[in-house]
Amino acid sequence: MRPKPRSISITSGKGGTGKTTLAANLGVALSAMGKKVTILDADLTMANLALVMGIDQIKASLLDVIKGRAKLSEALRESHGVRLLPAGFRFEDAHEALVGVDRKKVRQVIQDLLSSSDFILIDAPAGLQETTILSMAAAKEMLLVCNPTYTSIVDGYKVLRFAGLMGCWARGVVVNRVERKSEVPPEEIEEFLSRAYEGIHVLTEIPEDRKVQEAELHGMPFVVYDPDCKASEAIYKLAEIIVGKADPPQLQQSSLTETSERLIRVLTGKL
Ligand SMILES: Nc1ncnc2c1ncn2[C@@H]1O[C@H](COP(=O)(O)OP(=O)(O)OP(=O)(O)O)[C@@H](O)[C@H]1O
Ligand SMILES: [Mg+2]
Repeated sequence: MRPKPRSISITSGKGGTGKTTLAANLGVALSAMGKKVTILDADLTMANLALVMGIDQIKASLLDVIKGRAKLSEALRESHGVRLLPAGFRFEDAHEALVGVDRKKVRQVIQDLLSSSDFILIDAPAGLQETTILSMAAAKEMLLVCNPTYTSIVDGYKVLRFAGLMGCWARGVVVNRVERKSEVPPEEIEEFLSRAYEGIHVLTEIPEDRKVQEAELHGMPFVVYDPDCKASEAIYKLAEIIVGKADPPQLQQSSLTETSERLIRVLTGKL
């Protein structure tokens, strides 16, 4: 029997943490493991997933499908072994998306896609915008992407609190753009975020890697552009964790720094 299809929304508190890059590359990595993957661009106002996947022109977008102007099959594209449901690039699309999107229709699109996918990865906009909330509500699992900085984990904390309230399963945290001298080590990130969502784990650390931006300039996922670079290694490891072939790293328990303690006091209002 086919395992149940899984829908995972890829979210972050702060913008620019690497959600779109992660969605594209994790999608390609899961597909290379034999999984049927669909990536959905839910960033209706600032869509760029198609560009990262090397698609410069789209015939119909998620918005067209939601508004009944196109069939799902007309909007779906194929790239590097994964199916992609793009959002629109045009300014008019962004404006229309802001005017309001029918939640039921989005849920219906995801249901339709699930019947022919092993995985749906949803590239959500940053923060707690309408479409992020929508995608969290529609997906069963959530991956939080953050950078190893205090501002990023503070915003991640809020998203996790929200996920908990909505009954969305936060599958784990991906720490992206990790450098040797990062501001916050992964152990502390895990401890900090577990105050928002009990039992949350850092699943992987993706290093800062110039190949990521090089690949982007070539309109290619980096796991295709350079499968052996450090960032690609991290993505393949994450894909194994996601399918249950590997366990997440066991990080040492960390005590919180004074900065973290202070930030948590601010976030919880317990001053
Ligand atoms: N590990 C990395 N190493 C180097 N550059 C990276 C890495 N991850 C992402 N980037 C770069 O960071 C920028 C932002 O990434 P991306 O667009 O994926 O973020 P995002 O979270 O989707 O942003 P937004 O919130 O605007 O949707 C891109 O130019 C990308 O190439
Ligand atoms: Mg993005």
